[in-house]
Amino acid sequence: MVAVADKVAVVTGGRRGLGAALVDELLERGARKVYSTARSPYVDGRSAVVTAQLEVQSAESVTAFARVATDAEIVFNNAGVLLPSALLAGDLEDAIETFNVNVFGPLRIARAFAPVLAANGGGAFVNMHSVLSWLAGSGAYGASKAAAWSVTNSLRLELAPQNTQVVGVHAGFIDTDMVSAIERPKATPPEVAVRIVDGLEAGEVEVLADDVTAKVKAALSGPVEDLTFTATA
Ligand SMILES: NC(=O)c1ccc[n+]([C@@H]2O[C@H](COP(=O)([O-])OP(=O)(O)OC[C@H]3O[C@@H](n4cnc5c(N)ncnc54)[C@H](OP(=O)(O)O)[C@@H]3O)[C@@H](O)[C@H]2O)c1
Repeated sequence: MVAVADKVAVVTGGRRGLGAALVDELLERGARKVYSTARSPYVDGRSAVVTAQLEVQSAESVTAFARVATDAEIVFNNAGVLLPSALLAGDLEDAIETFNVNVFGPLRIARAFAPVLAANGGGAFVNMHSVLSWLAGSGAYGASKAAAWSVTNSLRLELAPQNTQVVGVHAGFIDTDMVSAIERPKATPPEVAVRIVDGLEAGEVEVLADDVTAKVKAALSGPVEDLTFTATA
């Protein structure tokens, strides 16, 4: 159970989308400092926000960032990518990049920040997955989020001795650039951010950010062909 007030947090991909809403929510709850990253330099006028350049595909970039954010206590692995490329007809490089960002990116961050969190009392990692971790689809994206989910669960086991809370977040559509071309009902980034930070502060290890996601999780013990129906019903 990690309370946000007076803590130092990291949000990867905090310039826009869900990441920006997480930065806002953390400040709202009294975070002392929030490191917010983007792939290119940017400015945030709020005194508690420290912006940083980060490319999660690069071990050097991640290591350099961890050397700066040595006071971090809560790390949100939010940065992610959805490339419009089918697994078979699309370019294999797109599938590789998707896994490099969505799976190995959070793992690089976890490897770099685990000692930082240990030194600062344990803290928490919060990792963004998707309802597609279970439903699959969207090219390599669903597969990458399934892998990310499992990585999160394994990290929870490895980080238990140092008292680090590891939270996995599953969400359906959120109204961000990532899915701007898709015409479906979407949750707003602020409402998802509230659910995530509520879960973190309540000591949960899994956050289901919306009703569709909760229905899909509940249907996992049934036949796999029922899952699509569950998601759309
Ligand atoms: N939107 C949805 O419907 C939805 C649903 C479920 C889960 N999610 C997950 O929620 C998270 C946030 O997504 P979003 O909807 O806010 O997406 P978004 O609007 O497309 O933003 C993606 C964020 O990830 C950062 N990013 C992308 N590639 C990166 C890389 N290689 N290195 C470092 N940062 C990188 C971007 O930083 P820049 O500012 O540098 O571009 C940006 O801040 C993702 O993990 C996504 O998979 C989204």
